[in-house]
Amino acid sequence: MPQSSQIGLIVRQREPVNLESPLDQLDSFLIPSELFYVRSHFPVPDLKIESYRLQICGTVNNPFALTYQALRQMPSETRVATLECAGNGRVFLVPQVAGAQWELGAVGTAEWTGVPLAGLLERAGLNADTCEIVLEGADRGTPAEPPVPPAPISYARSLPRTKAVKPEVLIAYQMNGRDLRPDHGYPVRAIVPGHFGMASVKWLTRIEAVRVPFQGYWQTSDYGYWRDFNGKPVRSALGEMHLKSEIFRPRVYETLPANRGYTVFGAAWAGETEVTEITLSTDGGRTWNEAKFLDTVQRHAWRRWTYEWRTPKEPGKYTLLARAKDATGRVQPDHHDPNHGSYVIDHPLPIEVYVGDS
Ligand code: MTE
Repeated sequence: MPQSSQIGLIVRQREPVNLESPLDQLDSFLIPSELFYVRSHFPVPDLKIESYRLQICGTVNNPFALTYQALRQMPSETRVATLECAGNGRVFLVPQVAGAQWELGAVGTAEWTGVPLAGLLERAGLNADTCEIVLEGADRGTPAEPPVPPAPISYARSLPRTKAVKPEVLIAYQMNGRDLRPDHGYPVRAIVPGHFGMASVKWLTRIEAVRVPFQGYWQTSDYGYWRDFNGKPVRSALGEMHLKSEIFRPRVYETLPANRGYTVFGAAWAGETEVTEITLSTDGGRTWNEAKFLDTVQRHAWRRWTYEWRTPKEPGKYTLLARAKDATGRVQPDHHDPNHGSYVIDHPLPIEVYVGDS
């Protein structure tokens, strides 16, 4: 296994920078910060510690602002959370769809340190009719995908009040024990465990309580899906991550020797529940066998797993699939749900490999 300094992120887009994790080359439970995927819609804003302010405002009794130092002096917590971009795995959709062609690496697990959002909201005193908390970043620009707004906008997402006050939601300033790197939201970002990555707003400068649901670009046009409402589709915001498993090794189209032992390796995660079982198919979904977990259950964190495979004697093309089950008994769906558009690619993703003569 190469040292992390010898391997690098995979470029999906240079400007703004969007990078994918080389998960086939990593074994660790926590992904090193320099190899953690980067998903940014606009260039990194240049925020200075000295002038940084975090505003807490809106439908609250006591709006206030915090300096970076004041935030760092507050009681903090450290939590492990897996973030997955809602478009992770998009390249597997057939026919092809627009958007960054993420393969398997727009997901990762890290340890985040910061102040619970609940404490800040308590200090501000939420009005009884507050329904959502809007988190806004300092990055601004014009989105690439239509409908294009008439003027540049900042990246902003809302969280339902019920989730925003949960103890796991952090206003974080450290990742894996070090101050956040610029690409990951320096100096301060939100971490919303259990939700797709778009909820974890980077370069966070404003937290606004609102009494009507926020309908911003990243809530409806982007990171939205068609939800059934009394037989009619309505545009709704994506939120909780879906149950999903991925095979990190072997890679797509890797050639493996015939009739040899091979350790298939991957990870599985869920939103607000736990992954309880992984089954693996090496024959395109005809038969399934149980894989073994490497990690115990930890809410909001992935569980890595392995499966000891004896590769076939017969050379040819074989399709591997992994399927997770969660604590509620749910299993991954067989197919992508078109109501999710180019997001939530949560069906077992086919990893086609070649078995050659040994
Ligand atoms: N926050 C801001 N301000 N701007 C962004 O473009 N991208 C979001 C989220 N937070 C984004 C943001 C998306 S879509 C994801 S998946 C995560 O950040 C990715 O976090 P990372 O780049 O640290 O992996």
